[in-house]
Amino acid sequence: MLDEFDEIEELIGKHVSRAPAHESWPEAFVQYFSVDSLESARREITSWSGYQPTPLLGLDQLAKKLNIRQILYKDEAPRFGLGSFKALGGAYAVKQICATHGTNITITSATAGNHGRSLAWGAQNAGCSCHIFIHEGVSEERKQAMEAFGAVVERIEGNYDESVRIAAKSADEKGWHLVSDTSWPGYTEPPRQVMTGYTLIVDEIMKSLDSPDLPSHVFVQGGVGGLACAICAAFWIRLGANMPRVIVVEPVLAPCLTESAEAGHPVKVDIGEESVMAGLSCGEVSMIAWKILARGASDFLTVAEEGVAPAVRFLASGAAGDTPIIAGESAVAGLIALIAASRDAKLRKNLGLTDQSRILLIGSEGATDAAAYARIMAGQ
Ligand SMILES: Cc1ncc(COP(=O)(O)O)c(C=O)c1O
Repeated sequence: MLDEFDEIEELIGKHVSRAPAHESWPEAFVQYFSVDSLESARREITSWSGYQPTPLLGLDQLAKKLNIRQILYKDEAPRFGLGSFKALGGAYAVKQICATHGTNITITSATAGNHGRSLAWGAQNAGCSCHIFIHEGVSEERKQAMEAFGAVVERIEGNYDESVRIAAKSADEKGWHLVSDTSWPGYTEPPRQVMTGYTLIVDEIMKSLDSPDLPSHVFVQGGVGGLACAICAAFWIRLGANMPRVIVVEPVLAPCLTESAEAGHPVKVDIGEESVMAGLSCGEVSMIAWKILARGASDFLTVAEEGVAPAVRFLASGAAGDTPIIAGESAVAGLIALIAASRDAKLRKNLGLTDQSRILLIGSEGATDAAAYARIMAGQ
C-alpha cells in the first residue's frame, strides 16, 4: 500500500519544533481574527449561490496501517467548482472591497494560480475588473482558468516573490486595489480578509465532529502561511488551550516558514528550483501568518519533492480510505509528512503521534492543473 514511499530515502528535510501555545487566543491577535470576524465571513460565504460544505473523508485504511486512531481529510477540491480552498479567501476579500468602494474598480494581485482564480471569479460575480500577475513557472492552463472568469492575466519574468512586488507596484501606480494573499508591514487588511474567508474550513469541520472526536494534530501545508494561519487561528479561537497541535509542512525547496521558525524571526529564502507543489513555492512569509504561527504552531517540517507523485497516486488509488481522492500536488504535503513521521520512531515520538491520535489533513486542492495531474498519474 505504501510501497512507493519505501523507496524514497529522505522524505523529511528539516523539523523545527516550538513550544505549543497552551493559552487562550491572545488579545493582541483580536485585531486580525475574532469570533465576530469569523462569524461574518461564515454568514457571507454560506449565503453565496452554490455554497456547500466540502467533504470530510476518513482515511481509515491508512490510519490502520500507520497505527493512528483516525485520519480525516478535508477535501477542498469541490469548493465552489474552483478546485481549491482559495475560492473562500480572495472572493470574500473582493466582496468586502466592492462593498466599500463600489464596483468601478480594478482588483489586482500576484498568484501561483489558485488565489488568482478566486479573485477572478469574485470580481466577475461582483462586477468589477481584475488584473492578475503570474510568474514564469505558472502553467498555461492555470492562466486560462483565470481568463475564463474575465481577468486580464499578465506573465512577468522572475518567480512568485517577484510577481508579488510587481503587483504591489502596479497597484500603486494605477490606483488598483491590491488583494494579495500575503501581508507585510503596512499592508494587512485585504490579506486578513482573505485568511478570514479560509477559516470557514474549520467551522465546517467543527460542525461535523462531536467534541471528543476533535483532532489532536493538524498537518497543514504552507506557502506564505495564510492557510496554516487561518486553520491555526480558527481552532485557537474556538478551543483555546485545547486546540490541536498544528504542524506546518513546506517543500524542502521553499522552506520560508520553517527557516523563520528556526531563526525566531521572518527569514527570506531564495527559490532556486520551483517546487512541483506550485502553491507552496514561496520564499517570504506573510507577516500576519508568521506572527500567529510563531506562537500557535508547534512544528514546522519540510518534505521532499519525491514524495509528491506517490502521495497523489496513493490517494487516487482509493487505498487510503473508502473512495479514490483526486488531490493536486500542493494538497499532499501534509499527507507526505504524516506518512513519513508515523513510520519514523523518533519523529513519531517528537510529534506526539500515538495509536490514540486523531489527525486532520487539509486536502487544499484537487487537480487544478489537469495536465500536471495527468503526468503524475502516468508516472512521468
Ligand atoms: C493548493 C494550495 N495549498 C496550499 C497553499 C498554501 O497557502 P498559503 O500560501 O496561504 O500558505 C496554496 C497557495 O497557493 C495552494 O494553492
